[in-house]
Amino acid sequence: MITTKDIIMEDDPLIRQKSVPVEMPLSDEDRATVMAMYEHLVASQDPELSEKYGIRPGVGMAAIQIGIPKRMCAIYVPEFDEDGEMISCDQYALINPRIVSHSVKRSYLRNGEGCLSVPEDQAGIVPRYLKVTVTGYDALTDQDVRIVARNFLAICLQHELDHFEGILYYDHFDPEDPNRPIPDAKIID
Ligand code: NI
Repeated sequence: MITTKDIIMEDDPLIRQKSVPVEMPLSDEDRATVMAMYEHLVASQDPELSEKYGIRPGVGMAAIQIGIPKRMCAIYVPEFDEDGEMISCDQYALINPRIVSHSVKRSYLRNGEGCLSVPEDQAGIVPRYLKVTVTGYDALTDQDVRIVARNFLAICLQHELDHFEGILYYDHFDPEDPNRPIPDAKIID
């Protein structure tokens, strides 16, 4: 199981390394890695497990965050109704995902982004595309996927794919004013 000590932080030069494509067909080792990342995210959102293992809740993780410079990432974005019942869940263990198209319209998270490799949240606006289409191979379902993502999920995917390039979310801040609003962007809560 991946625990907090396995996750590399922003001060580790490796976090800036570019990731290389994963060789296909998927090896047992790469599959085990991406599944462990996925399981970490699921556990991180379980109040009991996250406390037991002392892990921060996360919705996405890229392999470079556990020191493996390969283009794979896990996503776990459940949605709940007012009673706390899960009504849907966007979940993937993606191999070689890439953005094939995106909207012109931008979006950003009202409260800013967070990252398991950034221990202290940095306040600022991270401009993203409102909608992205991502293709890749999903190890959860063992098939090629084409994900048309909007809003929060689209932001998560862009954040994780940035990790493949060694980019952290605060690199996107406006250097003069990190909180300068982006005209016409949709603000996501
Ligand atoms: Ni991150």
